[in-house]
Amino acid sequence: MEKVGFIFDLDGVIVDTAKYHYLAWRKLANELGFEFTHEQNELFKGVSRKRCLEILLDIGGIEATQAQFDTWMVEKNVDYLAYIEKMDASEILPDVPRVLEYLKNKNVPIALGSASKNAKPILEKVGLLHYFDSIVDGNNVTKAKPDPEVFLIAADNLGVGSQSCVVFEDAVAGIQAANAASMVSIGIGDSDILNEAKHNFKDFTEMDNQFLELLLNKNK
Ligand code: BG6
Ligand code: MG
Repeated sequence: MEKVGFIFDLDGVIVDTAKYHYLAWRKLANELGFEFTHEQNELFKGVSRKRCLEILLDIGGIEATQAQFDTWMVEKNVDYLAYIEKMDASEILPDVPRVLEYLKNKNVPIALGSASKNAKPILEKVGLLHYFDSIVDGNNVTKAKPDPEVFLIAADNLGVGSQSCVVFEDAVAGIQAANAASMVSIGIGDSDILNEAKHNFKDFTEMDNQFLELLLNKNK
């Protein structure tokens, strides 16, 4: 019987960094002369930095040269890094440490599967890096979610077949990526938005150890 592998998205699952991404994108939008709303920020969840800028420029009706595009990509990230600079364990989302600790005690392989190129420093800052046997992030993939690449690489690194993996995700694109990889998709957040997920939870406080046991034994 094959072990079950667990793959966590980062932004919106482990830490609430969406607010910092939002502030950095809004600053750029304002500089370019238009507003960027919280509702529009929903479209950015799980989406690569490059694709986010393309969407932002579409919203503002702005045509950019390649040089401008590259400058704005860097500018947004510099601002984002300033926001996350002071992050600490207080910004870990509720009950994430309990779930990680439970799984770690069961000796199951755990990976990160994130679109972010800033994933590792964030995990270091909040003190959770040691839980992860593999980190797959925006630096390791060529295709963005909903493409399953990030999760397939994570499964491979864990030495677990994709059908034996469970994915925790807060973004529609991430749920689609998990489903495309034939993994068990678990939506963390609004179940109306994440209605393609196999299971849904508002957050980890709603996920008890009994459910974790069900996942752990899914191949039995
Ligand atoms: C995802 C976020 O995890 O990472 C997106 O949900 C973000 O909003 C993407 O654009 C890329 O992140 P970064 O840190 O590489 O700009
Ligand atoms: Mg996310």
